[in-house]
Amino acid sequence: MKKIVFATNNRHKIEEVRGLLKKASPVLSEEFEILSLADIGCTEDIPETGSTFAENAFLKAEYVKVHYDMDCFADDSGLEVRALGMEPGVRSARYADVLGRTHDSEANMDKLLQNLQNVRDRQAQFRTVIVLLMDGKKEEFEGICRGEIMQERSGKEGFGYDPIFRPEGHTVTFAEMTMEAKNQISHRGQAVRKLVDYLIQSVK
Ligand code: IMP
Repeated sequence: MKKIVFATNNRHKIEEVRGLLKKASPVLSEEFEILSLADIGCTEDIPETGSTFAENAFLKAEYVKVHYDMDCFADDSGLEVRALGMEPGVRSARYADVLGRTHDSEANMDKLLQNLQNVRDRQAQFRTVIVLLMDGKKEEFEGICRGEIMQERSGKEGFGYDPIFRPEGHTVTFAEMTMEAKNQISHRGQAVRKLVDYLIQSVK
């Protein structure tokens, strides 16, 4: 069995990858054990100092490779708004915080809606990049979900900017969808499915 670290402590993200691996191939998924940072005893808050999602994902994966010498992958995501020059981007989690420390979704949404007041172009996209460091190689997987920023919040599901993001081709926001429905179309779901396909192919 091949052990691969997912450089996160988000249980939901870990379960999503394990679940999609199993769905892609119940037999071949047995070849992989996906471990979290906690599983390998890593309590470090790995700094995300890159200026792109790919850089940040690489920094996290590289940290595990260097310190634990294990195959590893990491993800980084965020919201890009066209009228704001693709902001908040890598600063999505800390958009409203001048000190760049806390993750306050309500304040982040308030700031975004404020910055888009009287702006007609509401086009936006969520992007996820996953970087995998395995068998001495580096692979990147990307997922993009296009949509638009609403004038006000709608819905209670999900997290982050979900209540103000309506994906293209849908009449409701991410926060009005079930987690399953969102995963089918989301940036993260797309990137994770590409990673899972790659892993399955690698052991065929
Ligand atoms: P992370 O890299 O997955 O931790 O995402 C960074 C930040 O981007 C989050 O804290 C959210 O503010 C925002 N974000 C990423 N994905 C989503 C999503 O699916 N819905 C809403 N906000 C998201």
